[in-house]
Amino acid sequence: MPHETSVLFVCLGNICRSPLAEGIFRSLVEALGMPAVFTVDSAGTSRYHIGNPPHPQTQEHARKTLGLDISSLKARQVRSEDFNAFDYVVAMDRENLEDLRSLPESHSCKNLALLSSYARTPVPADVPDPYFGGDDGFGITQRIVEQGCRGLLQTIQETWSQ
Ligand code: 4NP
Repeated sequence: MPHETSVLFVCLGNICRSPLAEGIFRSLVEALGMPAVFTVDSAGTSRYHIGNPPHPQTQEHARKTLGLDISSLKARQVRSEDFNAFDYVVAMDRENLEDLRSLPESHSCKNLALLSSYARTPVPADVPDPYFGGDDGFGITQRIVEQGCRGLLQTIQETWSQ
């Protein structure tokens, strides 16, 4: 049986990769008809963009390629309480994961892992940061984020049937 599950996606700035992951994961659970079952959020390890909406290029990519409106999201910094509040804390790259592991309370998180570790098809370990990338940055970013989010959702659904 489905039971309430919370997921927090984390990157560095919370304006490119993790808001995209939040939008994609939310659209997957909506497609399943289960938005009420999930709490989905995102955060950054840094303070750089607190209060800012997703980067304009991220918003445009989400809207044009995926039909997702993520314009209302606001960047925030991850906090120690998140490790207890969320069932899954999901890092976009290995540096994010290391930074998360260095925070107080991170050991109390039940599932702290890389997004790529949930993908059911081979993908690179790190979701590349389109903020620093070239024109195709979003193509690769989106592929890993989608594969990771699909796999994560499958993993969660499998825990329901155990
Ligand atoms: P994100 O991308 O971690 O995917 O949101 C970044 C956005 C901003 C910066 C770094 C990464 N920055 O250095 O300002």
